[in-house]
Amino acid sequence: MADRRWAEVDAYIGQALLAPDPVLEAALRSSDEAGLPPINVAPNQGKLLMLLAQIRGARRILEVGTLGGYSTIWLARSLPADGRLLSLEIDPHHAEVARANVAAAGLADRVEIILGPAVETLARLGEEGTEPFDFVFIDADKQSNADYFRAAVRMSRPGTVIVVDNVVRNGAVADAASSDQSVQGVRRLNEVMAAETRVSVTAVQTVGVKGYDGFALALVES
Ligand code: SAH
Ligand code: DHB
Ligand code: MG
Repeated sequence: MADRRWAEVDAYIGQALLAPDPVLEAALRSSDEAGLPPINVAPNQGKLLMLLAQIRGARRILEVGTLGGYSTIWLARSLPADGRLLSLEIDPHHAEVARANVAAAGLADRVEIILGPAVETLARLGEEGTEPFDFVFIDADKQSNADYFRAAVRMSRPGTVIVVDNVVRNGAVADAASSDQSVQGVRRLNEVMAAETRVSVTAVQTVGVKGYDGFALALVES
């Protein structure tokens, strides 16, 4: 299911409310030229991430799933000059493109892209006793969502905000019998989030240029 009107309204919102942004447009262009899939968040979603991190006053941000660094740039813009964003990416080509885009955005001093399977990187960060994160954006392989969420909660403190992208999947999430591993990954995530006594959580459906999907929002309360 896709509605042309959803894309038209996203284009309208972009033109009405978001300033032209040559830096982010260049990041998308270079990602496209490098052959990366166009599965970055939409501009209005990227700005929502930036605003949520700003509302939180985030100084340390964790991202799981970098791609070409589009959401990374939005999130890093919320940081103060001494803030830090770690973004985890399994694909060396994606990481290379993202590092160049982040540098071109003038944010290389705040952003570190760590190459490797995120489950392993998260385990290592946990063992190293990494300082807790204030804001976490989970947007990688959906089968591992529950693992990423558990790791995020372990590296959180009261007040940490966790956002998970793509939790509606064209509505397929409501189908318990779905054979789609991404759908089952979201359903496992929901079970883990609901059972986690430290967090308060909800999810919201969205439509737009990315189709029909949604995001989950969790607040770590203890
Ligand atoms: N957050 C980006 C989009 C990320 S797309 C944006 O909105 O701009 C998902 C990314 O997760 C891809 O780059 C993919 O290579 C990466 N990925 C997939 N499996 C992964 C894993 N096991 N560990 C780390 N990254 C992974
Ligand atoms: C896909 C992944 C994403 O993170 C997204 O926002 C859209 C699509 C995908 O794997 O198809
Ligand atoms: Mg996504």
